[in-house]
Amino acid sequence: MKPEVVCGLLTSLTTARLGQDFVVEETTSTSVLDLLREEEEVSDLDFTMVDHLDPDNLGLLRFNAMWEAYYRQDSLLVFSTGRSPTIYKELRKEKPLLTPDISIMSVGTEIMYGESMIRDEDWEQYLNQNWNREIVTEETAQFPELNPQSETEQRPHKVSFFVEKIKALKVIRFLSERLEKRGLDVKLIYSNETALDVLPKGAGKGQALAYLLEKFKVDGKMPVNTLVCGDSGNDAELFSVPEVYGVMVSNAQEELLQWHAENAKNNPNIIHATERCAAGIIQAIGNFSLGPNVSPRDIGDFQKCKVKIFNSCHEVVKFYLFYERWRRAEVAKNMQTPNLIFFPLGTFVHPSGVEQPVNHCIDVMARLHGDKQGTDYRIWVDRVSSEQVGSDTWLMKFYKWEAFGEERHGCLTTVLLSSKAKVPDGFTWMHMHQTWLEGSEPKDQTTWIWDGEKLASIHSKSTTLHNSGGF
Ligand code: GLC
Ligand code: MG
Repeated sequence: MKPEVVCGLLTSLTTARLGQDFVVEETTSTSVLDLLREEEEVSDLDFTMVDHLDPDNLGLLRFNAMWEAYYRQDSLLVFSTGRSPTIYKELRKEKPLLTPDISIMSVGTEIMYGESMIRDEDWEQYLNQNWNREIVTEETAQFPELNPQSETEQRPHKVSFFVEKIKALKVIRFLSERLEKRGLDVKLIYSNETALDVLPKGAGKGQALAYLLEKFKVDGKMPVNTLVCGDSGNDAELFSVPEVYGVMVSNAQEELLQWHAENAKNNPNIIHATERCAAGIIQAIGNFSLGPNVSPRDIGDFQKCKVKIFNSCHEVVKFYLFYERWRRAEVAKNMQTPNLIFFPLGTFVHPSGVEQPVNHCIDVMARLHGDKQGTDYRIWVDRVSSEQVGSDTWLMKFYKWEAFGEERHGCLTTVLLSSKAKVPDGFTWMHMHQTWLEGSEPKDQTTWIWDGEKLASIHSKSTTLHNSGGF
């Protein structure tokens, strides 16, 4: 059995559009697969979804707003990364990443479903075929050129090293021969001109995606379109999965571009974007006409926007974008405050448990104009779901995240929206209830006091005050 050798690095993103009546359930691994997806987006993380050279994460935030406004309800977001679950979770703490429907980790050797990350044990079982980790570690130990990666990156079906580029080809050749002689069926992937992964032959990002697509097909839930997104060698396999659209982001590495030139040059469904990372993904969605490709973050003034969008998820994204801009003083103070969209008798249950009439919150918000001017303050929403509960009423549920410097706080938020009342062609916010997401409450809850006077005095003393009037 000849081991497969893949040089380069590959990263991926999958999106799928789902039927309208879909309900998110995450208790079993099949529940995610039960959903009918229209589109699927499979994306690599490092230097594809996440631009480590963009400290403001603007591309990612643009993507997030677009995804939550237009795709979350009926599409499937898949992250496919070389990272182990341990360092994947670290990245999630550092960057404003959305929650994917499926996470494929450790270079396609671990597949997990939903937010609670339920493992696909069938996949791991399948990877056991002709795989023997001990033999791999025994044989690789014979190569002094191979420096083992950290313990976290050594996984049941992945043994990883660093090796210098000039030594890599030779090591790969000899190691392949030795593993073949020992009867193993393996795949060696060289990525980022530095990392060497030894995997079972049936593993890898491409194989993991093909496995998922096959599962969807058997269940009659095949996504209408799949877009794969990557930047490096271990992503190359994704672009060979039949019938997918693909985007190599502008900053893709030579190893991936070279693979493309040699293997997929004439495939019109693969593009090399002119934009970096997540901006390149947005570009590809437009290029292949897969759906809306204008991020709400790219719309400066919704009042002037000619296309009226009547969509409850978009409403949530738009409101928090306005709120961020309000506090950053990116919208003028004399600009219409959003009090029009709040039901005057509505209530707001703050995550501290305090209940306030909504009008009070609007007064507080008015005072917060510009309190985050010139800072890195950002808001994004994740997992926005919308349930129509009456002829003109929607129950919205989402995570709202605020980041400011080193601090990050998240609330599970439920909102009742109504489409009649005051706003023509728009929504009225009837009621809002927030609870802290586990471990994300601020240490000092006194800054969350709703007393306007007290707030004003805290505000004048402390420039680090955050979220005091937060919705
Ligand atoms: C990620 C993983 C590493 C792997 C590399 C290339 O950086 O952490 O273990 O070698 O991707 O696939
Ligand atoms: Mg990458």
